[in-house]
Amino acid sequence: SIVSIDAIEILDSRGNPTVRVLMELDDGTEASASVPSGASTGEYEAHELRDGDKKRYGGKGVKKACENIVKQIAPTLLGMDASEQAKIDRILIELDGTDDKSRLGANAILGVSMAAAKAAAQSHHMPLYRYLGGAEAKRLPVPCMNILNGGEHADNSVDFQEFMAVPHGAPSFSEGLRYVAETFHTLKKLLHERGLATSVGDEGGFAPDLGSNEEAIELIVEAIEKSGYRPGEDISIAIDSAATSFSTDKKGHYDLKWSGAGKMQSIDLIALAKEWVDKYPIILWEDPLAEEDWEGFARFTSALGDKIEVVGDDIFVTNTKFISRGIREHTANASLIKLNQIGTVSETVAAVRLCEENGWRAFLSHRSGETADTFLADFAVAMQSGHLKSGSASRSERLAKYNRLLEIEHALGTDAKYYWK
Ligand code: PGA
Ligand code: ZN
Repeated sequence: SIVSIDAIEILDSRGNPTVRVLMELDDGTEASASVPSGASTGEYEAHELRDGDKKRYGGKGVKKACENIVKQIAPTLLGMDASEQAKIDRILIELDGTDDKSRLGANAILGVSMAAAKAAAQSHHMPLYRYLGGAEAKRLPVPCMNILNGGEHADNSVDFQEFMAVPHGAPSFSEGLRYVAETFHTLKKLLHERGLATSVGDEGGFAPDLGSNEEAIELIVEAIEKSGYRPGEDISIAIDSAATSFSTDKKGHYDLKWSGAGKMQSIDLIALAKEWVDKYPIILWEDPLAEEDWEGFARFTSALGDKIEVVGDDIFVTNTKFISRGIREHTANASLIKLNQIGTVSETVAAVRLCEENGWRAFLSHRSGETADTFLADFAVAMQSGHLKSGSASRSERLAKYNRLLEIEHALGTDAKYYWK
């Protein structure tokens, strides 16, 4: 049973405060969990509690969230069995009492929820992926590696936030990771040859100033080929437009402001996507339209949903209420899954299950603000969702997840499975 829960303010990969939870069980188990933080966040995400005291970290401190853990959550959970995940998560939700976890803070709640899962796994002498996923959890996710960054994750002239290399044609996770890490290095060479910047954005991908968004795709295709791989067969491309970040009026109007491509409407973005999907080996497109543009999203899906995976991130925020609506209205055919968008492990699992039951795919994701915590890697294997994104082949907080997946693959040996769909 749980004998102590403590919390400290640590720094994430952007140098902003975040919550780390430390949990101890009566059998001597000690576990810790650290909470990630997004930049291009959805409006209806669970509420990340920040102190707002401008004298500390520009208001971004999380002392209050930590205090809520120690003074309110800990006394309620002490003595409980850490393996009662569903019950713990229910109690956390009830203790908070708000719809968006804003009283105690979703960062406080998620940290405790994750720490309980980790402590219980350790106490059962099981790796986290097996504890959460059972004996069936043997499928490694295809690593969708974000090698070129734009939008709010970089200070460059690219509007779309993420361009990912997806090694779906590789024979295994480790080979897939090698394919895309090599592509990352080739891309660096190509950028260097052209006199373009090789500095990286928040998720470790390059963030060059390009003449157009399309140039990003052309560069990646070239990098795939020059690395010795076949675009579309070994490695395809995934895009996260994060279109909420360049929507102007919540009415289907957009301004591709960073590249200077200028004003567009939903139909223009759909036409552009159609053209690109015909021309380039694109396999997945996330947030092609903004979170409020349900109609545009559904149109996008009816135009392209039979050719590519259409993923909703800001529009669904890992919330079964919004995913259910999406399923009813054919808004997409997949949902992004981020633990801190909803705020407990159990609710995240419910979101994945809802997708599965309805023939949707679940795309597991890190945040642009991360820590060295590798919970996500184990969680992706436990959920057997088939793909995950954890940034690029640079920045240790990104590699920590990929490296943990290499460990899991090694532990599974010949039982490890790897396939796209
Ligand atoms: P975020 O970006 O973590 O900054 O929200 C990730 C994403 O949009 O998928
Ligand atoms: Zn996204």
